[in-house]
Amino acid sequence: MKIAVIGSGYVGLVAAACFAEMGHSVICVDNDERKLSALQRGEIPIHELYLPELLERHLGRRLHFSNSIKDAVQACSAVFIAVGTPPLENGEADLSFVEAVAREIALSLNGYKVIVEKSTVPVYTSDWIRRVMKRTCTAGSGFDVVSNPEFLREGTAVTDFLYPDRIVVGADNQRSRELLREIYSPTIDGSYSAQADRIPEPTNSQTKPKLIMTSAKSAELIKHASNAFLAMKISFINAVANVCEQVDADIEEVRKGIGADRRIGSAFLNAGIGYGGSCFPKDVAAFRSVAQQVGCSFPLLDDVIKINSEQRHRFLRKVRETLWTLKGKRLGVLGLAFKGGTDDIRESPAIEIIKLLVSEHCSIRAYDPAAMDRAREVLKESVSYVADCYEAAEGADALLVLTDWEDFSQLDLKRIRGLLKYPNVIDGRNLYSREAMLNAGLTYISVGRSTLKPIASSEHAVDAISVSLE
Ligand code: UGA
Repeated sequence: MKIAVIGSGYVGLVAAACFAEMGHSVICVDNDERKLSALQRGEIPIHELYLPELLERHLGRRLHFSNSIKDAVQACSAVFIAVGTPPLENGEADLSFVEAVAREIALSLNGYKVIVEKSTVPVYTSDWIRRVMKRTCTAGSGFDVVSNPEFLREGTAVTDFLYPDRIVVGADNQRSRELLREIYSPTIDGSYSAQADRIPEPTNSQTKPKLIMTSAKSAELIKHASNAFLAMKISFINAVANVCEQVDADIEEVRKGIGADRRIGSAFLNAGIGYGGSCFPKDVAAFRSVAQQVGCSFPLLDDVIKINSEQRHRFLRKVRETLWTLKGKRLGVLGLAFKGGTDDIRESPAIEIIKLLVSEHCSIRAYDPAAMDRAREVLKESVSYVADCYEAAEGADALLVLTDWEDFSQLDLKRIRGLLKYPNVIDGRNLYSREAMLNAGLTYISVGRSTLKPIASSEHAVDAISVSLE
């Protein structure tokens, strides 16, 4: 099938490349000329596993980039809208880009098309798109508007797209439902996963996803409610971690115990410095606005947001409790991205914590495997950027772990101990067992677990919740 994807941001670019991989002929449209020419040269603006391979396979063959919505709409049967919906100051999603694109699509129609809303949007958006297009349409061409939310995670977006748990199609008639079913048929019927040259499936993936057909409004709600629920799980476990710290229980043990109940599940129960990224903070706020607008009070979402924000300040307090005063202290920082596996620093808890530490006049030496260029744009030269974890640790009063990169969980701890000025590791992602740290002679402060201190180093940490090993 011929598919147009409007917007070459995270969702648009991944969707376009994956549709091409599934055998469709795709035109991806953007109005940013610099980005377009880079993409046409095969340069990818984001750090995403397998995306380079997909571009290499399909660019100029089944995948083309263009700056013309009109040309793309006229050449294709399905048009996916994947433009940004950034937050407004009051938390609502800004839908002006969606509206502008809907108008342009309407002016370009040359026959029946299915318009698919893929950006994360509040309920009623597909209704609005339909209304705006009807008002704008000059020709008598028919169209349907469908909501088809995405559930991609940055870092694993390509395999999430090709091997999804579920595909949600919110369509209000059979014709558009069937067209969407046809588009996704290679993943629905398992034929993609049977291809010899497929992108490898992740472990535990389902070979055949559930296809969930709903009304457009239900599909829009599924997206917001899914992200809000996952954010709630994270805030919940962080609140439990805080209780653990007070009663000397271990959040990692508690997490395993809770997660073993299949009704709860173990995913998204990792305690830490809170969630970030371009989705959860924005979507929880947007969902709260939607609920308010329709007259439903949803105070649970207020608490999810509050707990998340407090989690960063709790971490900062741990740094202070460990080092006493902060001014002039040298800190090694591992991680700038909002999570491991991505170069994205939007709403990154790591960046927020670093800014707070810089405002306290700490001297920061930071390392991230992928996000240093992006971080430099925001933090400028307020921190020093170093080549690896060990350089970050050198001469530091404490080493802070702020992002859950896999590499960070495999450090040579004895070497780290030798490099640090004082043997303090403050881990906001719980990447280590306390025993491993203790064996390496490090004082390890983490989230939801009491601190084990090597006896010799105890004078270097001022820690209210430390456990004596004597
Ligand atoms: C999230 C959702 O997981 C996707 O399903 C959704 O499609 C996407 O938003 C979106 O709406 O576009 P993403 O933002 O890439 O994906 O990141 P996640 O992997 O969900 O992580 C979000 C944040 O939660 C990160 O800061 C991560 O470190 C944190 N997190 C995650 C925890 O603190 N604990 C956990 O147990 C899991």
